[in-house]
Amino acid sequence: IQGLDLRYNKLTDKGAEFVSNFLQENADLCYLNLMCNDITTIGAEVIAKALHQWNQTLKQLRMNGNKIGNKGGMYFAAMLQVNSSLEELDLGDCDLGTQSVVALSTVLNNNVAIKSINLSRPLLFSQQEETTVHLAKMLKVNKHLEELHLEKHDMKEFGAERLSETLVENFTLRYLDLSCNRITRDGTKCLAQLLKHNTSLEILDLSANRIEDDGALYLSEAIAFHNTNLKALAVLSNNIGGKGLVALADAMKRNTTLACIYIWGNKFDEATCSAFLELIHSGRLKQDHTDVRPYVVDGHACLAELFHGLRKHYYWTPSSRQDGELCSNYGLTVRAKSSESKK
Ligand SMILES: *[C@@H]1O[C@H](CO)[C@@H](O)[C@H](O)[C@H]1NC(C)=O
Ligand SMILES: *[C@@H]1O[C@H](CO)[C@@H](O)[C@H](O)[C@H]1NC(C)=O
Ligand SMILES: *[C@@H]1O[C@H](CO)[C@@H](O)[C@H](O)[C@H]1NC(C)=O
Ligand SMILES: *[C@@H]1O[C@H](CO)[C@@H](O)[C@H](O)[C@H]1NC(C)=O
Ligand SMILES: *[C@@H]1O[C@H](CO)[C@@H](O)[C@H](O)[C@H]1NC(C)=O
Ligand SMILES: *[C@@H]1O[C@H](CO)[C@@H](O)[C@H](O)[C@H]1NC(C)=O
Repeated sequence: IQGLDLRYNKLTDKGAEFVSNFLQENADLCYLNLMCNDITTIGAEVIAKALHQWNQTLKQLRMNGNKIGNKGGMYFAAMLQVNSSLEELDLGDCDLGTQSVVALSTVLNNNVAIKSINLSRPLLFSQQEETTVHLAKMLKVNKHLEELHLEKHDMKEFGAERLSETLVENFTLRYLDLSCNRITRDGTKCLAQLLKHNTSLEILDLSANRIEDDGALYLSEAIAFHNTNLKALAVLSNNIGGKGLVALADAMKRNTTLACIYIWGNKFDEATCSAFLELIHSGRLKQDHTDVRPYVVDGHACLAELFHGLRKHYYWTPSSRQDGELCSNYGLTVRAKSSESKK
């Protein structure tokens, strides 16, 4: 057995023990999904400890939605101190606290195996954004992490600025997910500055922030005149009006590096609809590279919503892989979906 998908099964901590034993005995398992199984700190401890073994084969582990808490997060941080086989770890929605997010980012300074980590929706109560400061420091030295999900970190201008500063000097991170934070125009200005540098960043998700027209203008300028690597940008639900959206469309016309843009949930006016209709009809923006579909009623252009397709860029989506690695047949529905749409 190479992959085991046990999500939503009420395994609880008792089941986690069986899983832990299985992990210690099974030399082939490389994909394990334990999402939403009522596993708590106790179960997190036995699973993390099973992964301490030097001869582990597991590459992907999803703990998403199990409330393992801050202490559970600490067990995973301890596990990552030992170089293991694990390449993807999903600790989203696990009720991690400040201490464990800081610990996880600290161990990633030295861990060379992890390629993708989801630390979304921790429970952070501080306004000082210490966790982001630590994550930024980690990005300065980590040469292996390709994908980082930091949704719902309560990140503001300060955090966005720290990340932008350090990412200028990083040549590894491909995918940065900052959706559902509190980034406004000034934070976006820093991120736009970052895009002017030739970094490795290919995918930036700023959905559900508050970047508004001004933020979109900063991004547009970087995309039009300086972008060498960014391939996909998501700015859904950011209170951007026609001015910002048309600027983004114009920037895409000027420079062809950016291939995918996701804009649903902003304030579409007639100029926006026409601009995106033109981008799509001219072939500059492929229909499967955006989340809007244009249509015309009584001579007026309108936009309808399409499935938000940024997920096809997740590290574990089979198409994003360089070579035919082992685990590519297992995984989330989203991966199945995106490979289907490819076919
Ligand atoms: C790891 O090695 C131990 C001791 O040799 C063995 O009992 C166990 O089955 C191995 N586990 C895996 C996952 O290969
Ligand atoms: C992991 O391995 C790398 C390269 O072999 C090494 O530089 C690093 O110190 C190791 N980290 C730990 C925590 O053992
Ligand atoms: C990361 O975790 C969040 C919160 O549970 C979830 O919504 C998101 O889909 C996860 N992202 C990935 C890449 O798995
Ligand atoms: C970041 O870039 C600097 C050069 O500017 C380089 O020396 C360093 O190795 C890079 N670090 C990572 C993590 O890519
Ligand atoms: C950008 O970096 C890549 C490799 O990281 C390099 O091949 C390319 O020449 C650089 N482009 C510019 C404009 O500096
Ligand atoms: C986009 O702009 C960058 C920076 O000016 C330039 O290096 C690149 O060649 C342009 N790419 C395209 C496809 O126009």
